[in-house]
Amino acid sequence: MPLILEGVNTFYGDSHILKDLSLRVNEGETVALLGRNGVGKTTTLKSIVGWVPPRSGTITFEGRDITGQEMMKNARAGISLVPEERRIFTNLTVAENLKLAQVTASKPGWSLKDIYARFPRLQERATHRGDEISGGEKQMLAIARALVQDTRLLMLDEPTEGLAPLIVREVEGIIREIKTQGMTILLVEQNLYSALSLADRCYVIDQGSIKFEGKPEELRGDTEVLSRYLHV
Ligand SMILES: Nc1ncnc2c1ncn2[C@@H]1O[C@H](COP(=O)(O)OP(=O)(O)OP(=O)(O)O)[C@@H](O)[C@H]1O
Ligand SMILES: [Mg+2]
Repeated sequence: MPLILEGVNTFYGDSHILKDLSLRVNEGETVALLGRNGVGKTTTLKSIVGWVPPRSGTITFEGRDITGQEMMKNARAGISLVPEERRIFTNLTVAENLKLAQVTASKPGWSLKDIYARFPRLQERATHRGDEISGGEKQMLAIARALVQDTRLLMLDEPTEGLAPLIVREVEGIIREIKTQGMTILLVEQNLYSALSLADRCYVIDQGSIKFEGKPEELRGDTEVLSRYLHV
């Protein structure tokens, strides 16, 4: 069982953000965490990677308790977070960004050859600096960087945010491809349609707690959950 959160409570100072949050991601599964602005989606990812350690509750990864474990250790254990801000090196080229991720990885993942085969746009842009590429290409580079490492849990925070519809389709295609390769994925989304098309299972979060768990088709049919928590 790759990832289990049980009764997680996370705070920023006195603000109680995650309230007894429980969720799980099974091996090879793509799970979407959906919810409106400010409900605790990013905080959930930050709690898992150890960026904001929970005050109580437990987080288990591949059978080991990783609650509050520091970020570097979690990264070495195979947990990768592609944050909303993407965080690529803008003064390095696409190829240099990938090579840097490779040399700093504890164990290798995909080869550059595999990456370029699956992300032809990155090959075309290999010699361009991080600040010379489009938003969609930055997102692809951020995902590719996680893949050259030995990532076994890939967490994506709103990977389609701010991208043009055509590029959204392209990023979705890449996520689908990574999923086909057997990766375990936790996907945070505000884009309901993107999440429904990619996920095996969905959670809806509101005010720091899980309000719904089910298959995409169950969520699609639950007009009450959709209108109450996702405003659709
Ligand atoms: N560093 C911080 N210090 C204090 N409060 C924070 C901090 N980061 C987030 N918050 C608050 O915690 C709550 C949850 O934030 P979080 O970023 O997890 O939401 P989110 O669901 O990811 O929202 P969005 O869709 O806008 O990305 C919000 O009320 C936010 O204002
Ligand atoms: Mg967020």
